[in-house]
Amino acid sequence: MTRHLVNVNDLSLAEVDELLEVSECILKSPKDYRKSCKYKKLVTLFYEPSTRTRLSFEAAMLELGGSCLGFSDALSSSAAKGESIADTIRTVSMYGDVAVIRHPKEGSARRASEFSSIPVINAGDGGRQHPTQTLTDILTIHKLKGTLKGLKIGVCGDLKFGRTVHSLVDFMRNYPGNEFIFVSPKELTMPDYILEKLNKNSVSFIQTTNLDEAISQMDVLYMTRVQRERFFNEEEYIRLKDLYILDKPKLATAKKDLTILHPLPRVNEISMDIDADPRAAYFQQAGFGKIIRMALIMKLLEVK
Ligand code: CP
Repeated sequence: MTRHLVNVNDLSLAEVDELLEVSECILKSPKDYRKSCKYKKLVTLFYEPSTRTRLSFEAAMLELGGSCLGFSDALSSSAAKGESIADTIRTVSMYGDVAVIRHPKEGSARRASEFSSIPVINAGDGGRQHPTQTLTDILTIHKLKGTLKGLKIGVCGDLKFGRTVHSLVDFMRNYPGNEFIFVSPKELTMPDYILEKLNKNSVSFIQTTNLDEAISQMDVLYMTRVQRERFFNEEEYIRLKDLYILDKPKLATAKKDLTILHPLPRVNEISMDIDADPRAAYFQQAGFGKIIRMALIMKLLEVK
């Protein structure tokens, strides 16, 4: 049966452990993997802009000895002529071995997986999920904190439309002892379906608008940008976009071993002054994205 990764919970905890172990092996000895996917092809179907996700997938496949094809703009594909996702994926299933899809519409990766004979990886579907960003985040937290359990995880910014935080919370809730501090304006709070899951699993969380007060409790702070492309009203976006800017004064009461993450792209929400702080890990995080995507490609292609 063809395996897909559409929702982060399509992977079990044991499978994520396995991806972390393989990632460690790749980090230790990348040359051992240079032929792992020889003659295999990765297809990128990007109906929305991307820098990290698309390029890290392509870099991952190239480092595994495979090759890549695809499009980075829906307007250069037959979607511009009205082709459905179902027909596109049925076609590219005949050209490649694994497909990565990013689409502005929620549920589009699931739809593609239903018509695909090759593994489909969701690289972001609207404001819903971004599971491979979560794998990236998990590898980063594991490397930097040495554990995925018992952490106080602050998540700040646009929690309504930010698909990266939906996937992150949806998976990190599975590890015992994790607690969440959600920092956002009232207009951009975490969706109810996520909060209901946390309540159902007795996972502790608080919601606040005050980053200054909450920051001292956090082991991890995950900053996000306000997702302009998901707003219906530009004025509302402008009103909310700069409410949280992490700068040196804001870090005054933060833990010395806080880990600061951001899925990137950054707009204004982390001051560039913070980049040199040893707690800032967001560029390291982007680098880990390539490594765990190598591990994921091998897993879905059943490559040893
Ligand atoms: N984190 C992330 O998804 O970045 P891109 O939009 O650049 O792919």
